[in-house]
Amino acid sequence: MKGLILAGGFGTRLRPLTYTGAKQLIPIANKPIIYYGIESLVKARIKKIGIVVGDTAQEVENMVGHGERWGITISYIPQEAPLGLAHAIKISRDFLGDEPFIMYLGDNILKSGIDEFVRQFQSNKPNALILLTKVSNPQEFGVAVIDDKGYVKKLIEKPKKPPSDFALVGVYLFDKQIFTAIEHIKPSWRNELEITDAIQWLLDNNLKVESHIVRGWWKDTGKPDDIIEANLLVLEGIESFNKGTQKDSTIHGRVQLEEGSHVEKSVIRGPVIIGKNAKIRNAYIGPFSAIGDNVIIENSEIECSVIMEGAHIKNLEKRIDRSIVGKNVILVQSNDSPRTYKFILGDQSYVEIIK
Ligand code: DAU
Repeated sequence: MKGLILAGGFGTRLRPLTYTGAKQLIPIANKPIIYYGIESLVKARIKKIGIVVGDTAQEVENMVGHGERWGITISYIPQEAPLGLAHAIKISRDFLGDEPFIMYLGDNILKSGIDEFVRQFQSNKPNALILLTKVSNPQEFGVAVIDDKGYVKKLIEKPKKPPSDFALVGVYLFDKQIFTAIEHIKPSWRNELEITDAIQWLLDNNLKVESHIVRGWWKDTGKPDDIIEANLLVLEGIESFNKGTQKDSTIHGRVQLEEGSHVEKSVIRGPVIIGKNAKIRNAYIGPFSAIGDNVIIENSEIECSVIMEGAHIKNLEKRIDRSIVGKNVILVQSNDSPRTYKFILGDQSYVEIIK
C-alpha cells in the first residue's frame, strides 16, 4: 500500500503565516505539521509516499527531503493549481498505479495514528474507507450521513445546513475504483474536483464504502486557533527531557529543553517545549507553549502560544496568551520617547493591545 500526502493548496485562512511559507510546515510542538502525517504512515508500515505539492513545492521538499530520515522513499507530484482533493489523486495515478492507497491531508493531525484503519481496510477490502468524527461546526467540513448500522448513506462537502455532525477526517483509504469515480465527477461550485463527490459516486454505484469513527482527537489545522489547539493537544502528551542548561530557575511539570537551550531566572510551567539554542531570561513560560529554535525571550511572560524559530520577545509588560508569532519576528517594549506604538506588520497581520 502506498501513501499520498496532500501539501498543495494556498492556506488562505492562515495568512499572514502562509504568505512566507507552506501551511503544512507550520510547527506544532516544534515539528512541521506534515511530519505527523508522514510518521503515521511510516508507523503503519507504508514505505513509499508521494507528496502532492503546489507553489510551495521547493520549501516542502527542502524540509521533508526524500524519506531518508524515516527509512522510506518520498517523491513529489506537482499539481499546477489546487483544483481539488480528487484532482490531486487523479494526477498521482502514475505514482499510485493499481495498488490500494491511503491519502492523508498534509494539514491534519490524528492522535490515534492510522494502523487500525489500515488493518480494517486490508481485512474487509472495501473500495473506500473513510474516517469520521463528531464536530460542533460540521458546516466547515465534508459531512457524512450514516445509518444506525454505521453504513454511509450520503456525503456533502461543507453543507450550509449540515444533515449530521459527522465530519470527514482528512485520512482516506481507497482501491483503484476511485480513479473511475473521479472520471465521472464534475468540478464543484468552488471549481474543485471534490473527493466527497467521488466517494458519493462510489456509493451511488453500489461500491463498498466503509466508515470508521475516530476516537481520540483530530485536528484540521486550517485556521490560527486550530494551530494553537493542535499545539496544546500534542504538548499534552509530551515527556520531559533536559538537554539544555538552567540557572536560578523553577521548572514545573513536563518540559522539554532541547540542546543548547538556556533558561535563567525564569519559571517554566509545563507542558512546554523549548527549542535548540533558545534563550529564556527573567521570563515566565506557561503551559502549552512551544518555543522554537533560536528564540530569545527576555523579561516577558508567555502562555499557550506558538513562538516560531528565531523570534525575539523582550520587555513586554503584559503576558502573551494564545498567540502565534512567526519566524524571526521581533516584539519589544521600549522606554524611548515619544511613547508610541511602532509596527512593521505584513498584510493581514493581527495585533490585539490591551489598555
Ligand atoms: O480536514 C478535513 C477536511 O479536508 C474534510 O472534512 C473535507 O471534506 C475536505 O474537502 C478537506 O477540506 P478543506 O477545505 O479543509 O481542504 P483544504 O483545501 O484545506 O485542503 C486539505 C489539504 O490538501 C491541504 O494540506 C492542502 C491540500 N490540497 C488541497 C487542494 C484543494 C492539495 O494538495 N491540493 C488541492 O487541490
